[in-house]
Amino acid sequence: MGELIIKFTLSERSIKIFNNEKIEYNLPYLWVRDNCPCNECRIKETQEKRFILSSVPPDLKPHEVNISHGIINVSWPDKHKTVIQLKDIELLRTPRKPKKILWTNNFTPEYFDWDGFLNNDEIAINAISEFISKGAICIKNSPTLSNSLEMLSTRLGPIREVLFERIHNVSIDTHVYNIAHTSLEVPPHNDFASYSWPPSVQALHMLANECEGGESMIVDGYSVLNDLQNDNPNLFKILCSFPVPFREFDEENETYTKEPIVRLNSQNKITGFRFSNQLMQMIDPIEDTLDLFYMAYHELCNRINSKKYKSKFRLESGHILLVHGHRVLHGRCEFQPDGKRHLQDAYYEMDNVENNLVLYKNRIGD
Ligand SMILES: [Fe+2]
Ligand SMILES: [Zn+2]
Repeated sequence: MGELIIKFTLSERSIKIFNNEKIEYNLPYLWVRDNCPCNECRIKETQEKRFILSSVPPDLKPHEVNISHGIINVSWPDKHKTVIQLKDIELLRTPRKPKKILWTNNFTPEYFDWDGFLNNDEIAINAISEFISKGAICIKNSPTLSNSLEMLSTRLGPIREVLFERIHNVSIDTHVYNIAHTSLEVPPHNDFASYSWPPSVQALHMLANECEGGESMIVDGYSVLNDLQNDNPNLFKILCSFPVPFREFDEENETYTKEPIVRLNSQNKITGFRFSNQLMQMIDPIEDTLDLFYMAYHELCNRINSKKYKSKFRLESGHILLVHGHRVLHGRCEFQPDGKRHLQDAYYEMDNVENNLVLYKNRIGD
């Protein structure tokens, strides 16, 4: 097989690599120098970068460049040589995380067995992949003993503690500091909207559920927001910038933050949703877009509470619902306080869950 001929030109600031006359890569010289993989520029043992960009001038230009056999060879004026493989550049485009799949009311979370999830890497890989894609899964056959959520740390990473208990108890005869400690319907929300970085993973562990009613409901916030963005971009936009105060407190705790309801990343992708009717505070009317914000908020509330997005199911004793706290809202229907109902909650962080997926995949050689 003949070698693929790769054409390139050197401009004032970059190497341009062409493929069928189309520019495939435009590599600034500073980028090439900064990414030199040699043992002088990296710490060999850790692969961390050692080279510091400011050690070369901003108008750095190569002395010589050639590209052959898929390898870019550059020599620099100080005689340093950089060798970069084109396939390493291509690899940057492979997604590192499972793709998000949005859902509405016909979704039911997939159930995984407690023992399998904790002890079998392949089951954990499937469960975590599903969790990252859909933002919700259930675990069944878990012990119905208090604080069993501690054991999930081996798969989900360390418990993210907040003020209030490390593992909190939700039942109507415990300390009442929010609506969940009553038998009233709890509308869809995410927890601790009053933190600037709310917990990104929440586990809800049903220890006993002998009451009539009280079905769990979850809403894919990304799905609601995605539809709102398509139907009414202006209303969506103000939710991304308008600061909203949230507060959760009791006699011994006081948490407060002012943040927009929607967080976007630099590519304008939704990466966070903060929604809690119960914790939202009075907004200072000095904000001049308050009226528009309220139109948007009304539309959002309408959608969140509509049938279209609510997935309902019953958590039985021994079931654990895991939700991506920055995406999926949870709530429950009203119940009859005619029996025992005891739920425990703990939080974890999505970054740790995602990292574990990579570790497990490496371990089984995927
Ligand atoms: Fe909650
Ligand atoms: Zn180097």
